[in-house]
Amino acid sequence: MNQGKGFWESLPLFPERASTLASEVDTLYFFTVAVAIFFSLLVAALVLYFAVRYRRRHPNEVGQPEKTITWLEITWSVIPFLILMVMFVWGAKVFFIAFRPPSNAVEYYVVGKQWMWKFQHPQGKREINDLHVPVGQPIKLTMTSEDVIHSFFVPAFRIKADVLPGRYTTAWFEATKAGAYHIFCAEYCGTEHSRMGGTIHVMEPRDYEAWLEQDAPTDERLLSGEELFAKYVCNTCHYPDSSARAPILYGIFGEQAELADGSRVLVDENYLRESILNPTAKIVAGYQALMPTYQGQVGEEELIQLIAYIKGLEPAGGGEQTASGGSTAQETAP
Ligand code: CUA
Repeated sequence: MNQGKGFWESLPLFPERASTLASEVDTLYFFTVAVAIFFSLLVAALVLYFAVRYRRRHPNEVGQPEKTITWLEITWSVIPFLILMVMFVWGAKVFFIAFRPPSNAVEYYVVGKQWMWKFQHPQGKREINDLHVPVGQPIKLTMTSEDVIHSFFVPAFRIKADVLPGRYTTAWFEATKAGAYHIFCAEYCGTEHSRMGGTIHVMEPRDYEAWLEQDAPTDERLLSGEELFAKYVCNTCHYPDSSARAPILYGIFGEQAELADGSRVLVDENYLRESILNPTAKIVAGYQALMPTYQGQVGEEELIQLIAYIKGLEPAGGGEQTASGGSTAQETAP
């Protein structure tokens, strides 16, 4: 991994570039720094030059009255404006790249906790402070915290995103070379903040598959989303049988739900999370506020399992409407 490093990467100031985003971020950064250096030197040189050129030559010399030169005023206003617009548009472009995971990204879950990072693979495998991923695969991280605010920072990938209690935030990356890359917590979160870190192990896809196959020395097994759905008896209300008193959950993810107050809401991770923990916050039109709160009963990792399970519920049959309709007609269970 240390061979073939470019000049910039060999400087201790510049971390390794190991994701598709890294060169985008660095190029913009170098451009901004180059512009700043150029104008700083220009201003410094002119200060010195003018100090000498327009120095006072004899004791009773007085200054000339100022002249306004319109073309000069316009030039030195327009040029900085154009340069700043380049920085703004370029920065916005990189921002959108950084915050929009590609549609083929595979979703991993991250739970921050004083003072560790817990990961879950799409296949269900779990890790603490180590995350194994395949090279060349866009990976979306859906992240939350069990306690205070943390921040997930991987310098080699040029990604950093706050990890907040009570909601989901996301980040994404596509690793470009195999290796081990440091994870930091970039938000002060208590005594052991500085030691809250980990390693992302980027592997060749074949090695990753082999690694997934290995039996993980898992501590206690977490119940799957489906098992949790049964454990918390969600299924007694959320199955579309004759006595169902709750919205059908099949195929709702990513759709709009119509609420009792007439507004609409996108069914995403944060909405599902809120609806589990605080069900009365947003009542789907046509239903009553019957559901008990699961605040304090369902942990963050269980929430992630439940949400992943609900996301995976395909719409039943064809042409069926989502659970948000609020009609009393219940379709048959898939
Ligand atoms: Cu977690 Cu700092």
